[in-house]
Order: sequence, then C-alpha cells, then structure tokens
Amino acid sequence: MEVRIQKLLKKYNQKTILDILDMHFKEGTIIGLLGDNGAGKSTLLKIISGIEKDYEGQILYNGYPLKDCHKQRIGMVSQKPYLFKRSVFENIEYPLKIRKIEKKKRKEIVDGYLREMNLEAIKGQRADTLSGGEAQKVALARALAAAPKLLLLDETTANIHEEAACAIETQLKSYHEQMGCTIIFVTHNLTQAERFCDECVWIK
Ligand SMILES: Nc1ncnc2c1ncn2[C@@H]1O[C@H](COP(=O)(O)OP(=O)(O)OP(=O)(O)O)[C@@H](O)[C@H]1O
Ligand SMILES: [Mg+2]
Repeated sequence: MEVRIQKLLKKYNQKTILDILDMHFKEGTIIGLLGDNGAGKSTLLKIISGIEKDYEGQILYNGYPLKDCHKQRIGMVSQKPYLFKRSVFENIEYPLKIRKIEKKKRKEIVDGYLREMNLEAIKGQRADTLSGGEAQKVALARALAAAPKLLLLDETTANIHEEAACAIETQLKSYHEQMGCTIIFVTHNLTQAERFCDECVWIK
C-alpha cells in the first residue's frame, strides 16, 4: 500500500507535535522512521493507522482517503503492545479466525510463528503475564497473521535481544518479499535502520 501525507498538522493542547508538508511512503518499501524522543513518531503511526483522527491535513492510501478496505489491510504493533488476556496461541490465532481460515490450517500457521519467533515454550501462557520482549514478539506474530499490506512497527524490536531481533528482521524481510507490503519501521537503532530499511525518514 502506498501512503502520502499532505500538509499534516497535529497538535496536543495547542502544542504543535507534527508539521509535515509532504511525505511519501512508496508501495513495497521498508522505510525507517527516526527522530528524537517526543518527535512524534508514535503519533504519526497512530494517525496513519486511523486510530488518531484529530489532525489537520490529508493522508492518502493508494491515492484515496482512508476506507474500510484499507483499514483491514493495515497492521500495527504499538510501542506498548496491547494483547488480549488469553493465551499466546489464541492471540496469534485471532486474526486467522477473523479471516475465516479453518482450524487445522490455523494451527499450522500459528505453530509456524511460534517456532520462528521461539515462543513455543510459552504458547499456553496468558499474554498479560509476558515479559516486554515476549509481548512484542506475540504482537508482531498476531499482526503478520492478519496479512497486512501496510505494516506499522513502533520500536517493535526495542526490548528484544539483538540476536532475536536479527531473526525477526529476517522473518519480516521474507514476509515483505512474499506480500510486497509497505513497512514503516520506527527505531532508535541506526545500525538496524541501515541494515533493515530501504530508506530512512527523519522527523523533528
Ligand atoms: N495523548 C497525548 N496528550 C498530550 N500529549 C501527547 C499525547 N500523546 C503524545 N503526546 C506528546 O506528543 C509528543 C510526541 O509523542 P510521541 O509518542 O509521538 O513521540 P515519539 O517520537 O514516539 O517518542 P519516543 O521516541 O519517546 O517513543 C510528546 O511530547 C508527547 O508527550
Ligand atoms: Mg514512540
């Protein structure tokens, strides 16, 4: 999915947080979104995802304002991931149920994510008891299971050990190749941005 931002102005309590004249996220690219703490990266992802609606300006998705068909294809992993108070397995399975994928196939797909993200040992654990890094992995697996065409990742590997973060990057690259999706990847890690992203955008 292609995203174009035009004349975006976002304020919180009269304070300008984002003032972006024109920004373009090309279809099929992995874009690193960088900037200081408080620069507005998370706010920008919330606006693009459609969660935050209070702003001036225009966001176009494949040339159109946000429609239901776009919303269904946008996946987001928030900086503080929100998971259902159910098992890890059920959390990852949920979007597959929504997509009406049959039970046997669902199990196969969820087992694949559990294996790839090294979550097999905790598949029955309730998501509200997970560590920060575990929760981020589960939230990412759940987002991927929904087969998004636009994936918004807010410091998703920040709490994850470097080796595991590299494994997740590899997995994301392979998903990206399969789906030709656009990924906006917020990170403070410049080495990671250089390694993983096609291009980078800085916001102030
Ligand atoms: N709901 C809110 N009400 C008031 N101010 C807010 C709200 N949400 C965010 N802000 C402020 O907006 C600014 C941008 O916040 P945001 O979370 O987007 O920054 P960020 O670039 O993601 O920072 P970080 O790198 O620390 O995650 C911050 O100064 C923050 O305090
Ligand atoms: Mg943030």
